[in-house]
Amino acid sequence: MDQPKTANGRGGTSLIWIIVAGLAIIVGGVAIALLTPYVLPTVGSAEAQQVDDLFRFMLALGGMIFLLVQGAILFSVIRFRVRKNDYSDGPPIQGNTTLEFIWTVIPAIIVVVITIYAYTVYTNIRAEKPNEQEVAGLGQRFAWTFTYAVPAEAVPATVDQSRIPDEVQTVLDTEGQVTFSSPQLHTWVGQPMHVLLESEDVNHAFWIPGMRVKQDLLPGRVTDIRFTPIEAGVYRIVCAELCGGGHGDMAGQVTAKGELIGAWLVVHQDEETYLREFWSPEAASVLNPPEDPVERGRALIQNYPCSGCHRLSDLGWTSVTGPSLDGIGSRTQRLSATGAASIEDYVHTSLREPAQYVVPGYSPLMPQFNDSPDEANYMPEDQLEAIVAYLSTQ
Ligand code: CUA
Repeated sequence: MDQPKTANGRGGTSLIWIIVAGLAIIVGGVAIALLTPYVLPTVGSAEAQQVDDLFRFMLALGGMIFLLVQGAILFSVIRFRVRKNDYSDGPPIQGNTTLEFIWTVIPAIIVVVITIYAYTVYTNIRAEKPNEQEVAGLGQRFAWTFTYAVPAEAVPATVDQSRIPDEVQTVLDTEGQVTFSSPQLHTWVGQPMHVLLESEDVNHAFWIPGMRVKQDLLPGRVTDIRFTPIEAGVYRIVCAELCGGGHGDMAGQVTAKGELIGAWLVVHQDEETYLREFWSPEAASVLNPPEDPVERGRALIQNYPCSGCHRLSDLGWTSVTGPSLDGIGSRTQRLSATGAASIEDYVHTSLREPAQYVVPGYSPLMPQFNDSPDEANYMPEDQLEAIVAYLSTQ
């Protein structure tokens, strides 16, 4: 009161500092919201965009509150620290109605806004979409099974359904629908999915992090969840409810060889790709390899470029650049020429070290198939063994 000039001067400086601090808090909160989602998985669905926007909004608000509280603590610790030889008590503060009003009303407004926003997102992502694919998702200890039907006429004519592996069970029903069950759920970009979830035993939770959807499974009740993929790829399906000793097995796994086993969502680029890749028996047998090594080898060899040079009547190959593979299993005269112990041994060496023996009359053009994923022409040993088993039967 006795120094109004100084007080005014101080008031002006404080206002500038409050504005600077306020801007720093807003910018900081927004920066937290924009940077943190980089640790999240791919945004794979239309729902994921809405969920992430809501998450970013809440993160921005939370970030601002965090910076405000931490800033106030830091400011107070420095500004109001104990001075040397100051043993006095602080000023007695009895309450401040204005302040209490402000700190009640502002959080109340924030909570109401978040509630309305979150409810809108929740109803949006659960709303029925046109042209949905209905899928029954069964959770049990400790596996997922997805059962769904497609019109029989959608299945390509080239598909021999008897060759689809047992894991994918197919049934042609009277209404012309082909129903099949699999631990993997296949669909394509833009196809809205509606999954009806049932549990055979205890509580589970169906979760696809890439789609940002999660729904509990409750015994005796059908719960449901919807999502529409927007990005092709493979997405892990996870059980998010501790359901027993094998709980971890209810998540899609990748083997050391890079194969996907268990529960995965496979999103194909479009419907045409979906029908071709999913229904192709060759693709299906690579996905779920047959037990018989000869059958497995027959499926696997078609993933390699052998047909470009060799003839093999069993698979309809007709090239003549390299020696014919027809009857390779009975060419015992090669054993003495190469010093191989058996036909299997000879075929194995021909793939791993083709330069060791070139069939007379041909050029050494055969690429070497290597055992290591770091080298060119990688062929894993187990695949090579299956291919050798198949070729030896020719
Ligand atoms: Cu099912 Cu955890």
